[in-house]
Amino acid sequence: PGDGRVFSGIQPTGVPHLGNYLGALENWVALQNQYPLVLYSIVDLHSITQPQDPKKLRSNILDMAASLLACGIDPERAILFQQSKVSAHAELSWILGCLTSMPRLRHLPQWKIKSKQKNEGSVGLYTYPVLQAADILLYKSTHVPVGEDQVQHLELAQDLARIFNNCYGDVFPEPCALLSSTRKVKSLRNPSAKMSKSDPQVMATITITDSPDDIALKLRRAVTDFTSEVTFDPETRPGVSNLVTIHAAMAMISVEEAVSQARGLDTGAYKNLVTEAVIQRLTPIREEIERLKSDQAHLEGVLARGNRRAQELAAPVLTEVRQRVGF
Ligand code: ADP
Ligand code: NA
Repeated sequence: PGDGRVFSGIQPTGVPHLGNYLGALENWVALQNQYPLVLYSIVDLHSITQPQDPKKLRSNILDMAASLLACGIDPERAILFQQSKVSAHAELSWILGCLTSMPRLRHLPQWKIKSKQKNEGSVGLYTYPVLQAADILLYKSTHVPVGEDQVQHLELAQDLARIFNNCYGDVFPEPCALLSSTRKVKSLRNPSAKMSKSDPQVMATITITDSPDDIALKLRRAVTDFTSEVTFDPETRPGVSNLVTIHAAMAMISVEEAVSQARGLDTGAYKNLVTEAVIQRLTPIREEIERLKSDQAHLEGVLARGNRRAQELAAPVLTEVRQRVGF
């Protein structure tokens, strides 16, 4: 870690689910204790690339701040801020966009998937990964925690650092990926797909604010198979293996230990064990989110301070960039 700088962002779209928590946020919490400078951004500029409702966006931003704090993000160790409040993100994005060719963006996953769903897409959706590159480079970040699905976007940020440096002289370090655990949480209803907030099926995702009853019901309905013994084999038994993954992660034990605790239980009885582990882990988080949401002034204060600190870090970098570009 040494003098590494970590940057990551999350869109303010709804309550994080177990996949987000185990695949990203838990790692964010660990990183804030390992690196001297860590920035976590609620990336509201990214979230307006899809149709949106201003009232909802405003409350989603505060809700996401509450979720992140409740999951253990500590504003003393990490700068937690709102992307749109630091206008340098948009300005650097424009400059980097002028160094990006159209074909370079056409094959990136964000555009391919989301524009197809809509059969069209905005310019903002198309250049979404350029804004991500700007987010990262604006703080001269060296390490970026990402899921596998974001690796190609990080490669664009690396390319743009190199291209900018070649054009205008060395400014940006090339950021490297910190692949967050390969632990993939699957949909409870279709365990061959990942758990996702865009899953159209009901009861397919567990969010970090689900009540104990919701958690129990969703796990009871989770798809398994016709073998009652519990084993871990994601290829042939994705449903049961997903339960083992969730159990192990929530109880903070190894997969082997989880399987051994399941010995003698059929999948129905095992679901109760998994339910207990999930409830134990999520209850304090859910209660903390409720507490934080009841104190909006506090949340706004945390963000305002983060915005100020991010702004202070961004300003000299943007000044340097502007000089190099010739403004
Ligand atoms: P979603 O697919 O629900 O929209 P995002 O794309 O917003 O989730 O993901 C935010 C972060 O959470 C990313 O780092 C991503 O890799 C991680 N993540 C999302 N879904 C899962 C999952 N099912 N298992 C593990 N990590 C996940
Ligand atoms: Na997504």
